[in-house]
Amino acid sequence: MTAVAVVGSQWGDEGKGKNTDFLSKDASFAVRSNGGNNAGHTIDIDGQEFKMRLIPSGIFAAGKGAVIGNGVVINPEVMFGELANLEKSGIDTSKLRISNRAHIILPYHILQDKYQEEAKGDKKIGTTQNGIGPCYMDKASRIGIRVCDLLEKDTFEEKLRANLKVKNELFTKVYGKPALKFEDIFDQYYEYGQKMKKYVTDTSVLINDALDHNEKVLFEGAQGTMLDIDEGTYPYVTSSNTISGGICSGIGMGANRLNTVIGVCKAYTTRVGEGPFPTELLDEVGDRIRETAHEYGTVTGRPRRVGWFDSVALRHAKRVSGINGLSLNLLDVFSGFDTIKIATAYELDGKKIDYYPASLKELYRCKPVYEELPAWNEDITQVKNYEDLPENAKKFLHRVSELVGVPLVTVSVGPDREQTIVLKNPWEL
Ligand code: IMP
Repeated sequence: MTAVAVVGSQWGDEGKGKNTDFLSKDASFAVRSNGGNNAGHTIDIDGQEFKMRLIPSGIFAAGKGAVIGNGVVINPEVMFGELANLEKSGIDTSKLRISNRAHIILPYHILQDKYQEEAKGDKKIGTTQNGIGPCYMDKASRIGIRVCDLLEKDTFEEKLRANLKVKNELFTKVYGKPALKFEDIFDQYYEYGQKMKKYVTDTSVLINDALDHNEKVLFEGAQGTMLDIDEGTYPYVTSSNTISGGICSGIGMGANRLNTVIGVCKAYTTRVGEGPFPTELLDEVGDRIRETAHEYGTVTGRPRRVGWFDSVALRHAKRVSGINGLSLNLLDVFSGFDTIKIATAYELDGKKIDYYPASLKELYRCKPVYEELPAWNEDITQVKNYEDLPENAKKFLHRVSELVGVPLVTVSVGPDREQTIVLKNPWEL
């Protein structure tokens, strides 16, 4: 198949960077189409660790280029910082391509994110405070500044002046904060635009052409299904569509272009920020998983909330994204555990349910119905073939796949590229 998407099927941080890096070596292009530098992908290549937030993980291996699509929101300062880091390590970044329609995160978006969160008090979303939500707000309000606007001096000037007027009213009158000055932003961002120019193109044309010529394209989802603005645990979500449908609008291609959707999950669940989390573990088992798996945010360093594997969430993800292959990461974390739990359904007000309630009040009342499976003692970090895994690990994987109703394609037993067991090649699904 030529168009393969990798999407998060939990609350983000499922280890998608490793999956996309693994798959991109066979791809011509690797594409990001939603979110911004709220994402954090850690990739280990030959013992060297790279932390990617905005640039597609496929920059390391995709043959013809890494693409930032129109659905992404770009913080230029972060982007150039990441590019400089990659170049320092000898990575060729010349094949980066940026959509002329992507929106730019400006300093006022970051401040607005912070002020909004402060004003919400204990009702805060727990955002990454990178200005993601306010940038998408401006896009939907039709006052956003796109890459193509940044490249035209007069357009940028006109839009920035108009936006600052509105933002400064908001900052000074609603939040009681200082106003921003036009001069402090304009020159620096115009320069960013000029520096960006060489990468800018119509990425929809680029990717549709590649697919027309049967080239392999890998789509890298950011965040996860449960953080999707429509299908996640609203309002405790991010501000973009993280499901597979968001890929089509985020690059500009038809829904029928996508052949395969790989849903990535962990052997357990994590969540950063606020919001409901039915299988959350607030005990020493949760602490043990967090410490064993180093569950601390790539972007914020925040300790992640940890819980058991939730098959209700995974079935929801399967339905809304059309997942037809499952990649499970961090199986090695359970070596040495006595048992592992999997939520098979929820109990809501005494009734067993098999769906994700839209109402947060209902969701907070949901109690997971668990199935308990025996774990294993063996260190599995060097296992290369599925057959060589301990019997109990295979039973766990089989049950996960059965409950989700999707075949497993890869299982990860460690952070390195090589520590991946391939059951089916996603490019051949
Ligand atoms: P925002 O995307 O910064 O607006 O944050 C909204 C919510 O999404 C918060 O709960 C964040 O912790 C969460 N979030 C955003 N990006 C990621 C990610 O890449 N991994 C995990 N959580 C994320």
